[in-house]
Amino acid sequence: LASIEVDVSAIDVGQSITVTWRGKPVFIRHRTDKEIEEANNVPLSDLPDPIARNANLDANAEATDLNRSAEGKEPWLVMVGICTHLGCVPLGQKGDFGGWFCPCHGSHYDTAGRIRRGPAPENMLVPPFAFVDDETIRIG
Ligand code: FES
Repeated sequence: LASIEVDVSAIDVGQSITVTWRGKPVFIRHRTDKEIEEANNVPLSDLPDPIARNANLDANAEATDLNRSAEGKEPWLVMVGICTHLGCVPLGQKGDFGGWFCPCHGSHYDTAGRIRRGPAPENMLVPPFAFVDDETIRIG
């Protein structure tokens, strides 16, 4: 299927689910206020990849926390759950930055899915997505 719709009404704050879109895992995380705050507090100059990598934005948009989520929907992080190094699936709520950790070669991602340490060259990709209503996300 080119696009899928996902009911996110049962995902509580602090929880995540993984769905499959075009054969790839997509992480949908309902972030805590603390996770958002931590991501917002990171200066862009600290990011190995300063580009948002968000298919919904300009290709050169900066990797701010807002640009990694969606306007008015900041608690929600939707991203392709594939490490940008060599394609393993990172583990959630692991690693030195409280986001994701890729055990294959040790890449650490933060609570906005941005690479912070390790061999991965880019932030995890935010796919095309939109809220159809408050409880439904369409991906693709
Ligand atoms: Fe993730 Fe290499 S594939 S660190």
